[in-house]
Amino acid sequence: MQRSTKKKAGAPACRKKTAAPAAKESRAVYTVPAEMFDVSKVVRGEGTCEVACAAIEKRFSTSAKKHFFGMRTPVPFAVEIPVDGDAVEFTASCGVDVAGAKGAIVMKVFGDGRELWSSGVTAWGDKEEAKAKVDVRGVKTLVLAADPADGGAGEGIGAVWGEAKLSYAEGRFLPSDVRRTSRQLGILTPPERPEPRVNGPRVYGVRPGRPILYRVPATGAAPLRVEVLGLGLDSPKLSKLSYDPGTRILSGRIDEPGDYALSIRASNALGMDERPFTIKVGETISLTPAMGWSSWNAFGGSVSDEKVRAAADALVATGLADHGWAYVNIDDFWQNIPERKAEDPALDGPLRDADGRLAPNSRFPDMKALVDHIHAKGLKAGIYSSPGPFTCGRAAGSWRHEELDAKTFADWGFDYLKHDWCFYDDVAFGTDVLRAMYPYLVMGAALRHQKRDVVLSLCQYGMANVSAWGRCVGAQSWRTTGDVFDTWSSVSAAIEKQKRLYLYAGPGAWNDPDMLCVGAVCWNGGKESRLAPNEQYTHVSLWALLAAPLMIGCDLTKLSPFTRSLLSNDEVIEIDQDELGKAAGCIAEGDDWEIWARPLADGSIAAGLYNKSNREQTIAFDLQKAGLLCKWLVRDVWRQEDVGVFAGSYEASVPGHATHLVRLRPCRCGKLRDDVVDIRDAAWRLLREKDLARKDAV
Ligand code: GAL
Repeated sequence: MQRSTKKKAGAPACRKKTAAPAAKESRAVYTVPAEMFDVSKVVRGEGTCEVACAAIEKRFSTSAKKHFFGMRTPVPFAVEIPVDGDAVEFTASCGVDVAGAKGAIVMKVFGDGRELWSSGVTAWGDKEEAKAKVDVRGVKTLVLAADPADGGAGEGIGAVWGEAKLSYAEGRFLPSDVRRTSRQLGILTPPERPEPRVNGPRVYGVRPGRPILYRVPATGAAPLRVEVLGLGLDSPKLSKLSYDPGTRILSGRIDEPGDYALSIRASNALGMDERPFTIKVGETISLTPAMGWSSWNAFGGSVSDEKVRAAADALVATGLADHGWAYVNIDDFWQNIPERKAEDPALDGPLRDADGRLAPNSRFPDMKALVDHIHAKGLKAGIYSSPGPFTCGRAAGSWRHEELDAKTFADWGFDYLKHDWCFYDDVAFGTDVLRAMYPYLVMGAALRHQKRDVVLSLCQYGMANVSAWGRCVGAQSWRTTGDVFDTWSSVSAAIEKQKRLYLYAGPGAWNDPDMLCVGAVCWNGGKESRLAPNEQYTHVSLWALLAAPLMIGCDLTKLSPFTRSLLSNDEVIEIDQDELGKAAGCIAEGDDWEIWARPLADGSIAAGLYNKSNREQTIAFDLQKAGLLCKWLVRDVWRQEDVGVFAGSYEASVPGHATHLVRLRPCRCGKLRDDVVDIRDAAWRLLREKDLARKDAV
């Protein structure tokens, strides 16, 4: 699969020399503690493990760049990895780090004290990489060692284990893997109830006169009648809006700004459910976080018209659209790649047509027809570009064509644009935050000039504190992290990065910690996500608490019952889509647990008891301390069951790496303490305590 070619740190280039010197006795040894070596990053079977040693790299590298996959250690040094006899093969591209460093080194792999591989003498500038490919079957402790060759290494010299990969046999895990240390949660979402239920958000934002397209999400046994009530009442203002009960699609437009209070009713032989639905016609769109599917984590560089159509069809066929999933987004690789550099000849072609319009590659023969297909299902369509001359996949970007590209996207009918910084770095100008804002201001304005609403989703990995200004450039969401993969270190690191961002989120403005990595993802060769089931619960629970855009990143045609259950729990989705739009903050924490909470529109509170440890533990939610007085009815959101009424504190035993998601409804008073306005007050207090402690320590 093609990958982002965003600049990576220099790959080591080394030539093997003769005579490997003996290992030095003096090298420091670092034993990777079980909890630090993130086994979820280890690939079982075939596939690649790009970030196998990122956790180690973080600990040792002073110069590792963002996209460097692998590990850099000082020299002399050894890293000890307890593989416990379950690993099959270790591979890496080995060499010397730091351009211009003088000196040569020898890198070796030992298994239970026995030398299994040696690089020979390697130095910076060697033409060939020393490729380690070592059979490690049966090895209990693997040691990766680097020593100076003859006479000591030069200053600052480092050993690079590039693209380090430890393969595991299918179904085998390192001792630290949460699947070996804790029970795993199975399907918790109850089977779909036959009683009618109206799903989806209660508000919909649209600009005056712009097309409205909403497929009403509702569930219940057939025949299910779904109606939109109130359409006739406000005419003529609502005269251009119509609803088709056959397709459940609400479409048309409203020209005059204002709030239009409608309601949606679902009924069948078992009863009726009705809920308010307000169309807010004004300048703010995306009043709740976008929910849908994106091609990237599912197909990466191999996306095509057929795969996108199949995803749209599957959103409806699997019933996910009835739970509110609406966007079908094409990510990178729908364009051509210049100068015949594409791995796939299907992407060799003109970047733009004779009129300067971006040209889709041959995998997308008719973009307008594809978007029409998506719209005909009541779903929305998304596309991807870069403010730079090239996207991350080196395909054509929008640099100096922003207005035309915005028009082209709108003419094709797109409702969403993910705009990815990538090669904009090469052409960026200005200083500070303006440098970061500028390209997005340009595209924000260009989209705003179109005759349809196009959600602008910024992708620049959280640079220059984008959360603080994303809204100002006309964006509705912005990535706050680098790419998230289906690994525990990746997901948990993304969560950690959200701690200071909750105040920036609100209707029409969402922090985006990247797409979901559940189900069959391309990072694991199209197989089920490497995240353990408990970790997937944390992934979805935290994203809902964070009011994150929810973009499914798996092949929907291969949806397992477990993945479907994760994506179709209406009470979880309701938290994400709550119209108050207040994202959760981390309001309490211990050594290896955290509690994240957010207030919801109906006066209730959503909280996640997040177990960061790989062992089951009891997490106590001190209600009193968080400011929740009197009594609260606690509901287990995943199981959709009330747990009971609690006062003072609530505790639960949470399996390793899982999150226990609850909703607390005020019951018998349900007051907040006088010094608490918002449950998240505890979050900034916690951050402040830590900041002050850090300041005092300096
Ligand atoms: C990355 C981006 C990914 C994906 C990829 C496409 O920079 O973060 O989400 O869009 O580029 O090449």
